Order: sequence, then structure tokens, then C-alpha cells
Amino acid sequence: MVSPILKWAGGKRQLLDELKSRFPRSYSHFHEPCFGGGALFFDLEPQNGSINDTNSRLVNFYKQVRDRPDELIEFSRTFEHPESQPDPKRSFSETNRKGKDIDNYYYQQRELFNNRPYGDEYDELEEAALLLYLNRTCYNGLYRENSSGGFNVPIGRYSDPDWVREKEIRQASRVLQNTDIYNSDFEYVRDQVEKGDLVYFDPPYEPMSPTAYFTDYSADGFDQEDQQRLVDLAKELDQRGVNVILSNSGVMYDKYDEAGLYVEIEGATRAINSDADNRDEVDEIIATNVPPKQRKAVGQQGLSDF
Ligand SMILES: C[S@@+](CC[C@H](N)C(=O)[O-])C[C@H]1O[C@@H](n2cnc3c(N)ncnc32)[C@H](O)[C@@H]1O
Repeated sequence: MVSPILKWAGGKRQLLDELKSRFPRSYSHFHEPCFGGGALFFDLEPQNGSINDTNSRLVNFYKQVRDRPDELIEFSRTFEHPESQPDPKRSFSETNRKGKDIDNYYYQQRELFNNRPYGDEYDELEEAALLLYLNRTCYNGLYRENSSGGFNVPIGRYSDPDWVREKEIRQASRVLQNTDIYNSDFEYVRDQVEKGDLVYFDPPYEPMSPTAYFTDYSADGFDQEDQQRLVDLAKELDQRGVNVILSNSGVMYDKYDEAGLYVEIEGATRAINSDADNRDEVDEIIATNVPPKQRKAVGQQGLSDF
């Protein structure tokens, strides 16, 4: 059981037991097409399979973790405390691209991170180290992009932030060794899965009300057509004998139900359980094609565990 390295919007650490209680008794490969922080993957430590995300910087990060953990740790050690002075030897030591004053080292790194893919100094390892640094030192530790794809979270105030995460990087690198990493739409998994595999889909949640804003994981967003494509894919995989588990907001209850999945409510913090017509306002649902009788109960030990 390994901890996720990054804090990520929609992270599923609180839902692990509920997800695992829907697992089939056995499965071959494990796939996670909307990876984010990968809380379930790291908890499971699967031997093989695939992970994917549309966020190319996130995907680059996991590739560096898998393939170059020592270099990544070494690079991260070169960073300074976020509130220290900007590095005068690097770009953006005084002003950002828009000519605004750079206050401290954090904002210089943020500017370098945002500039990198278009500048001369682009380096995959440095980008991975910067992503981790910003994730560990930004306000609330979350990744958020503005509409033009720039990381725009302000500095956080932590007394002793750890942006190296040596132990976590080494553990994650070990777990990722036999995992294929993709930077694509979730539909990539159609060509990767085989009968008997398990796929966990954790897409950006469909907003529960017009004011809720759940889709700002990246500049792309994830709209209702994407949600429908996901339902269609889950149905197709079900017909091919693949185990699927999905989480989403309650807005998707009926669509998952109509697709023939077993749908259950989790985390109904709004106390509307008594009103069956109000499923739309349920915070979280989990859907699966694994029939209750074929699930491996959490905590149940198999003979191989002895
Ligand atoms: C709810 S988060 C996943 C959180 C993750 N389960 C965790 O524990 O941290 C959803 C992820 O889906 C990714 N995503 C958005 N659109 C996608 C698409 N079309 N295909 C695959 N992934 C997508 C987002 O970048 C985000 O990282």
C-alpha cells in the first residue's frame, strides 16, 4: 500500500474501501484511464496494466517517476524555499511574461513551469520536478489551469513543505515499473483491455448544479458528451467480459442504471436520501458490472494470503 505522490482534485483516498468492496474475486490486469493522483492504483500496487490521463504534464511526471527516480529526487533537492528570493541566474527573476513583479522564488518557478513547453530550456525531468514542487508548495496543494492552460494557483503558506518526497517517489517508481503510461483520451483503454481485466474510471464528475464547477482539472474540461462516451464504453467493455467500476456524482445515476450497471450511493452528505427523486443531488455514486455475489469482500483473505 503506497501513498499517492501528488495531491489531486477528486482524489479518492476516502473512497478506497468502497471501491475495493466492488472488486471481482480475481482479475488479470488493472487499468486506470483517468488517473489524476492515482489513489486506488497506488493503494493496490498492481503488478501490471496501464494508466492514462489527458494532462500531458501529469503524464510526463509519472514517466519520470517510473524511469528516472534518482535524477528526479536529485533535481528536486536543488529547489529553494518558496518564500526565498528568486534565482537571479534564471529567467523571470524580476518580472513575469506580462511584466508584473515576481515576488519570490515560488512565482519564478511557476512562471518557468508555464513558459517551459514554448521556451528553449524545456527539459522533461525539470518539468516533472517543477510539477511536484508547485503541487507541494502552492495554495491548497491542487493543480488548476486557467483557460489558456497556465498553472495559476497562488503560493501556499507552509512552515516546512517537503517537495522532494524521496520515499514516496521510490515506492511509486517501483509500483509503476511494469505499467504502461498513456497521454490520451480514456478510450485508449478499448485497445488495451482483455477479458478478465479490471478498469476503474474516475472521470471529472458531472456537476450537480449549474453553479457547481467540477470540471477544471485542465483547460479541456469534460462535458456531457464525454460522459455519454464513457457510459457507452463501459457497456462495450461489459459485453467483452471486462470488469468495470466507475465513480461519479449522483447526476449520472440514471445513465449508469440504464446501462445495466449496479449503482450505489456513497457519501450522500446532503441528507436527501429519503427522496428517491432527488438522486441528482447525491454527492457520489459508484457503479459496476461486477454482480454482488461475485465480489471479493474487503478484508476477506484468500488461501494464497496464508
Ligand atoms: C476525478 S480526477 C481522478 C482522480 C484520481 N482518481 C485520484 O485518486 O487522484 C479525473 C482525471 O481525469 C482526467 N481527464 C479529464 N478528461 C479526460 C479524458 N477525456 N480522458 C482521460 N482522462 C481525463 C483529468 O485530467 C483528471 O486527472
